[in-house]
Amino acid sequence: MSDGAAAAPARAGDLAGQGIRVDVVTIFPDMVRQSAAFSIPGRAQAAGKLDLRVHDLRDHTNNRHRTTDDYPFGGGAGMVMKPEPLFAAVEAIRAEAGGDPIVLLMAPDGEPFTQAMARELSARPHLVLVCGHYEGVDERVREALVTREVSIGDYVLTGGELPALVILDAVVRLVPGVLGNAESPHEETFSEGLLEYPHYTRPAEFRDMAVPDVLLSGHHANVAKWRRRQALVRTRARRPDLWEKLLPLSKADQKLLDEADREREEKI
Ligand code: ADE
Repeated sequence: MSDGAAAAPARAGDLAGQGIRVDVVTIFPDMVRQSAAFSIPGRAQAAGKLDLRVHDLRDHTNNRHRTTDDYPFGGGAGMVMKPEPLFAAVEAIRAEAGGDPIVLLMAPDGEPFTQAMARELSARPHLVLVCGHYEGVDERVREALVTREVSIGDYVLTGGELPALVILDAVVRLVPGVLGNAESPHEETFSEGLLEYPHYTRPAEFRDMAVPDVLLSGHHANVAKWRRRQALVRTRARRPDLWEKLLPLSKADQKLLDEADREREEKI
């Protein structure tokens, strides 16, 4: 049973400016519904910031066995998702919701999902996430039904449900009003192309491991400098791909990094 049938009819855009509508098309609706009931997506739904509707693809089949896949033309291993149920499901959502939702297909060979894409999607009033399975989906779905194909990483999962949940989570937390002030995503990993600096909380000393003095000093400018330096050092060490895009560094950043390198050499 699809959520859309039970929920009060809402046109796409009803939540515009105050939230987001996300429709998920899947053969495992309970997996998506139950996972999205936790944490921030769950809270966003309770607060009316996320209108999540999960659709069982099998409700859009027209064969007795409710099959959604079939053998590949040309032979070979694996099954392929049939086009008819996917077209029917997405077209039903479009007809009910109106507007022009962006339709994303979860696919390991899609464009890489990034924080920038999450930000862009979080500004849209309505997304449709289509979960692929088996060896893939019929190419006509990719050609004529979906707007964008998205991969969450260079590994192959058994289906698109986990990727859809990943995208939902990353997008929803950026919708205005979903996170409280204290959780607000201002300074965080990837927001400026830098990894985040290390975090500490109480106690100031734990098993002989002390929190860096500067964080206890109350000197805000020095704290900010220390954090920036840590973020630079971490990004250079862990993510050469991000690092390349940060070059050339500003004079101030270069100075922080030189300082860090000098201190490290002195320690050796
Ligand atoms: N389906 C299977 N693997 C996937 C991946 N890495 N990203 C998106 N969808 C997928």
